[in-house]
Amino acid sequence: MAFFPMLCCGKGLDRKRKKQPTWRIFSLKELHSATNSFNYDNKLGEGGFGSVYWGQLWDGSQIAVKRLKVWSNKAEMEFAVEVEILARVRHDNLLSLRGYCAEGQERLIVYDYMANLSLLSHLHGQHSVECLLDWKRRMKIAIGSAEGITYLHHHATPHIIHRDIKASNVLLDSDFNARVADFGFAKFIPDGATHVTTRVKGTLGYLAPEYAMLGKASESCDVYSFGILLLELASGKKPLEKLNATTKRTITDWALPLACERKFAELADPRLNSNYSEEELKRVLLVALVCTQNQPEKRPTMLEVLELLKGDSAEKLVKLENHNLFKGPNSGDYNDGMSVAEDSSDFASGEKEHGKEDKEEIIPENAQI
Ligand SMILES: Nc1ncnc2c1ncn2[C@@H]1O[C@H](COP(=O)(O)OP(=O)(O)OP(=O)(O)O)[C@@H](O)[C@H]1O
Ligand SMILES: [Mg+2]
Repeated sequence: MAFFPMLCCGKGLDRKRKKQPTWRIFSLKELHSATNSFNYDNKLGEGGFGSVYWGQLWDGSQIAVKRLKVWSNKAEMEFAVEVEILARVRHDNLLSLRGYCAEGQERLIVYDYMANLSLLSHLHGQHSVECLLDWKRRMKIAIGSAEGITYLHHHATPHIIHRDIKASNVLLDSDFNARVADFGFAKFIPDGATHVTTRVKGTLGYLAPEYAMLGKASESCDVYSFGILLLELASGKKPLEKLNATTKRTITDWALPLACERKFAELADPRLNSNYSEEELKRVLLVALVCTQNQPEKRPTMLEVLELLKGDSAEKLVKLENHNLFKGPNSGDYNDGMSVAEDSSDFASGEKEHGKEDKEEIIPENAQI
C-alpha cells in the first residue's frame, strides 16, 4: 500500500510510552458490524472531513470511527498524514490511533472512544446545560491539553505543529482527562526550518494573524490557538461572538481590556457560580492573553505556557502579572499590530527565531511527508 510506507512497525516514538496495544488494520466488515452499518443513531458528530461514529468491537471495547466523506487525492493525502502522525505519537494527552481501514473507496480511522466527547460539547454544545466542567476539571483540561501540545512541539521527533487546536479537537475521557485529537492538519517540521509556508487551514476565531494573512505556520500559531482555547475554557464564551447582524467581536478584544483593569471575575464563566480559585483563574487568563499576542515572537513557547499554568515558578508568575500587555491602551504591547518592531516580552523565545528568519526554508504544501 503506497500511502503507508512508514507504518510497518506499529510503535510510537515517545518517551512517555505506556502499555497499550499499538494500531492495527481493520476490515470494512468489522467496522460495519461495530457501528451497526454506520447507523445514524451511532453518529457522534461531523467535521470537515467526514462523520464520526460510535462503535463496539467484538471484545466489548468502544471505538470512534471517522469515515472520510469525499474521495479525492486531497482526502487521501489528509488520510495518510493523519494515520502516519497518529501512529508515531503516543502520549497520555493525545488521542491514540487504534487503526485504520482502506478498502476500495472507503477510508476510515479508528480511535479510542472518548466517553465525555469534546470540550466543545461541554462549553457550547449538548452537555453545556449539565455544567459538568467545574473549575478543577477546567484546570485539569488546560494543563492536560498543554502537556499534549508541548509533547508535539518539543518532544516528538520530528516536531509536529497541530494547526487546528480548538475546542472540538480536545476530547475528554471518562475521567475528564484531555486528549488532543485530529492531526490531519498537522505537518512535520523539517530540521532547521523555522516555519512551514503552506495553504491556510484551521478554524476561524483560532487562527494566528500571521498564519491567516501570510500562511506562516509555526509552533507559535498553535500557541495562539491554545490561548484562544484557554480564554474559551475560563469564560465559556465562543472565540467569535456575534454582537449584531453585522458585527462580531473576538474573545481577545473582549478579554484584554478587562484583564488590564484586573476585572478577572467578570471574565469567569457565569456557570461556575463564582466557584473557582481566583489565583488560578487569573493565571489562566493572563497566560491565554500573552499567547494571543499578534506578534508571534512575543508569544511564549508551550514549555513556558505549561510551567506558567502549573504555577511552578513564582518568579515567572510575577513577571507575567507585570507584563506590558496588561498595562492598558497606552502600553506599547496593547493591541500591538504586526508592524510594531520593539520586543519587550518576557516570554519571547524571539532572538534565536529572529536570527533564523532570513534563511528560513519555505516548503510547498505538496512537498510534505
Ligand atoms: N474519539 C472520539 N470519541 C468521542 N467523540 C469523538 C471522537 N472523535 C470525534 N468525536 C466527536 O465527533 C465530532 C466530530 O469530530 P471531527 O473531528 O470530525 O470534527 P470537528 O472536530 O468538529 O472538526 P474538524 O473536522 O475541523 O476536526 C467531535 O466534535 C466529537 O464530539
Ligand atoms: Mg476534530
